[in-house]
Amino acid sequence: MTEIERIDQLREELHLHNYKYYVLNAPVISDQEFDKLMRELQDLEARHPEHYDSNSPSVRVGSDLNKNFTQVEHKYPMLSLGNTYSEAEVTEFYERVRKALNEDFEICCELKFDGTSISLTYEDGKLVRAVTRGDGVKGDDVTDNVKTIRSIPLVLHGEGYPAQFEIRGEILMPWESFESLNRERELREEPLFANPRNAASGTLKSQNSSVVAARKLDAYLYYLLGENLPHDGHYENLQEAARWGFKISSHMKKAHTLQEVFDFINYWDVERKNLPVATDGIVLKVNSARQQRNLGYTAKSPRWAIAYKFQAEQALTKLLKVTYQVGRTGAVTPVANLEPVQLSGTVVKRASLHNADIIASLDLHIGDSVYVEKGGEIIPKITGVDLASRPAGSEKVTFITHCPECGSPLVRYEDEAAHYCTNETACPPQIKGKIEHFISRKAMNIEGLGPETVDQFYQEGLIRDVADLYTLQAADICRLDRMGEKSADNIIQGISRSKEVPYERVLFALGIRFVGETVAKKIAKAFRSIEELANASLDDLIHVDEIGEKIAQSIRLYFANDKNQKLIRRLQEARLRFEADEEDLAGQTDKLQGKSIVISGVFLHHSRDEYKDLIEKNGGKNVGSISKKTSFILAGDNMGPSKLEKAQKLGIPIMSEDEFLALLEQE
Ligand code: IVH
Repeated sequence: MTEIERIDQLREELHLHNYKYYVLNAPVISDQEFDKLMRELQDLEARHPEHYDSNSPSVRVGSDLNKNFTQVEHKYPMLSLGNTYSEAEVTEFYERVRKALNEDFEICCELKFDGTSISLTYEDGKLVRAVTRGDGVKGDDVTDNVKTIRSIPLVLHGEGYPAQFEIRGEILMPWESFESLNRERELREEPLFANPRNAASGTLKSQNSSVVAARKLDAYLYYLLGENLPHDGHYENLQEAARWGFKISSHMKKAHTLQEVFDFINYWDVERKNLPVATDGIVLKVNSARQQRNLGYTAKSPRWAIAYKFQAEQALTKLLKVTYQVGRTGAVTPVANLEPVQLSGTVVKRASLHNADIIASLDLHIGDSVYVEKGGEIIPKITGVDLASRPAGSEKVTFITHCPECGSPLVRYEDEAAHYCTNETACPPQIKGKIEHFISRKAMNIEGLGPETVDQFYQEGLIRDVADLYTLQAADICRLDRMGEKSADNIIQGISRSKEVPYERVLFALGIRFVGETVAKKIAKAFRSIEELANASLDDLIHVDEIGEKIAQSIRLYFANDKNQKLIRRLQEARLRFEADEEDLAGQTDKLQGKSIVISGVFLHHSRDEYKDLIEKNGGKNVGSISKKTSFILAGDNMGPSKLEKAQKLGIPIMSEDEFLALLEQE
């Protein structure tokens, strides 16, 4: 056999193994054997670039090349479905169809997968293009990313598929992958994905297909479109597609009566909790393509299909006790400790109660049966109490009056829902929290130090405040558990390097209440040294753009405290930067003074964070959502369709990346 023949043989074999593993869930060789074959293929392909195939199984591993997506027009627009929420609305749909058709019909009942939709085009049995929904008319070409999803066939098997067709479906991140991804992100202090849907769509838009390959996405296909489909029936076409290698849900069912439709809905409303992926409803489709054509479309959605959305998933469980967490700022958060209960694929033991008002409005008692809900978010909430089952004489939950960590009395500021422990300088979680904030990436960015190390140093009595970091000796650290000389040196070096961090970030690192990253920048610009800031009057402070009474008060309060003044003196002795120097000021202008700017889309020249910095350096304000007050939108590729619509409706100008950079260049 020649090497070329071997390549062809390996490609064919690997496609098949891939299908058996990812579509059928029935692998016939071990992972190691699979990897061995893959490596052999990769080696041979490297030797024979002339035999390149864009659909080789080796493209599944992705590439590190950065990619800006091109927009592609859909051959058939990608419509959405009308939503219904009640049996009555489902009945209406069914009756409408019955009257309009005036003949027998079948309804194909399917799960509504909660991911991100995709349209795949196949030509001569090969995947040629994968496009996101986009605005329904045009979407992003994400072919390279989609090729890394193992359950999507790159090359079809079997026969009878049309020379050209589209198949649409949902790209999903299974619960298991979602949870492990979030665990990793938590460790790396990266923002968590709120739900598998966001994780799937975020991943699919990644600029780097090897990230997609690592994230373990899955896909179910649910709609075949094309000129020469084998059958008139949608259900029958999908069964055919399953034979060509597509992953088609095995939970589709044809119903012949309204009762059968309801049976399907009621069954899956319960059973969906046991599925490996998120679902948010049921889709009902008239099965025959001929009848679909008869029914036609409204402007937005087909008349032959409808979605029935499940109620947000709830579980009933028992409230065991309420505990209180004290955060870095001293804010006290009540947490409901629950009898463990299954909810949307995970075991829930705790739920946030947010604040005293929420507890009061629920009229919570210990031992109550409570409803917990996961409205597509990670942290469940308590939405109600089953009063009928309240045990007699149970104790009403009343908010604590003293800090559970240090015993200081709690206060509640005007206009705020939270209670605070004000013992900022001696309450352990606040001390540790302040140190953790101080060392974090956006503050002093001290490498080698993380929350666990801070906790260890604190327990060992090595540090009591952030200034103690700067007198630490490698020898003190070496003595501790799990600390070698090398890690001790790393930490000391990291601390030492932090002395170079610019003034504005030092200000942010101090953790003055309400002084976030952006406010810190504004303050650093207005008051060029810590002395100037400490001496600023309330009035001086309020005159700074974006600083209101609340922030100004908090700054005054901070400097009025002797302990804080002492801390700053010690940090000054350690030679941290408490003055804006020329370098920090370079590049600062007022060109965007008074402008509120929304950033949207994917950019070519700078990252989003860099654009945020540029906006702030030039006196503008980066805001999250579009409103009447928005001055303009800095739009990259793939600006979200809903944002675009809103901008157009409000007449907000849209500026491209190049226009924006040119604006800043202007004298
Ligand atoms: S059929 C014209 N079937 O729900 C019919 N859609 O609002 C096109 N979805 O954008 C869609 N599961 O992302 C169909 N079994 C299913 C589905 C499904 C989830 C999503 C899809 C679509 C949205 C409809």
